[in-house]
Amino acid sequence: MMRFEGQTVFVTGAARGIGEVLATAFAAEGAHVAIADIDGDAASTAARRIGGRAIGLRCDVAERASVESAMAQTQKQFGGMDILVNNAGLHTRHYNRPVTVVPQDAWERMLKVNVLGLVNCATMAAPLLRQRGGGVILNMSSVSGFDLSTAYGVTKLAVRGLTVALAEELAPQNTRVNAIAPGLIHTDTIVGDMDEGATEAFIEQRQLIRRAGMPTDLTGAALFLCSGEAGFITGETLMVGGGFARRV
Ligand SMILES: NC(=O)c1ccc[n+]([C@@H]2O[C@H](COP(=O)([O-])OP(=O)(O)OC[C@H]3O[C@@H](n4cnc5c(N)ncnc54)[C@H](O)[C@@H]3O)[C@@H](O)[C@H]2O)c1
Repeated sequence: MMRFEGQTVFVTGAARGIGEVLATAFAAEGAHVAIADIDGDAASTAARRIGGRAIGLRCDVAERASVESAMAQTQKQFGGMDILVNNAGLHTRHYNRPVTVVPQDAWERMLKVNVLGLVNCATMAAPLLRQRGGGVILNMSSVSGFDLSTAYGVTKLAVRGLTVALAEELAPQNTRVNAIAPGLIHTDTIVGDMDEGATEAFIEQRQLIRRAGMPTDLTGAALFLCSGEAGFITGETLMVGGGFARRV
């Protein structure tokens, strides 16, 4: 029996990058997956790539009505929802800059997507998870939410805070809430966004494991936290960053 047989997973921002790799890994372990992304066409393409019973849905996490409708479609298609992966996030250098340098409109959009988007999805998913007797929420923080040198990092600290607050709120309904905090992960968005040599410098200065992190480096931790093996873990954020920051 596969680990997620008969379960339905709703992954936001899953048309590409980390979200797509996580959705693919859940599907390979027997789950039905809903690929929810603001880019609806890319979501459908990713769903076709994953195959099986994956569905692609247009969903802007910043808009509660959009989340509600995507989750209703998932419910209709698969009969319920067991796991929510809050992966959608804005993280290019337009956002990943010092607090006072980020323009107001970028701050507002980033808060709406990275912070309120997570609140919207958790709020709409909670009753659906409850209907199944409980479920799991996995949030995507970042090592930037530990080192806190940028506006983006502050939104990822908020993700850690929401992970604790939601774990406490949803524990009585048997829903666990955890997060992973990836280090630098090679996705097309990141590769296209970083200056020549910046990735190598980051690996040299900020990692103990001297190689590029790949989306597949996250799947073990992500699927573990969503599985029954992590049944006694809630409210935690697990760093997966190649030994980032040599933190004590
Ligand atoms: N790549 C990294 O190095 C890294 C490191 C730490 C954390 N993260 C976090 O992991 C997550 C995924 O990162 P990635 O590199 O795969 O990103 P990506 O840019 O490759 O993919 C993000 C996806 O989210 C979608 N999206 C954007 N806004 C949305 C919205 N409002 N509603 C729904 N979908 C939306 C995009 O269309 C895109 O398909 C983000 O939350 C990011 O902050 C990434």
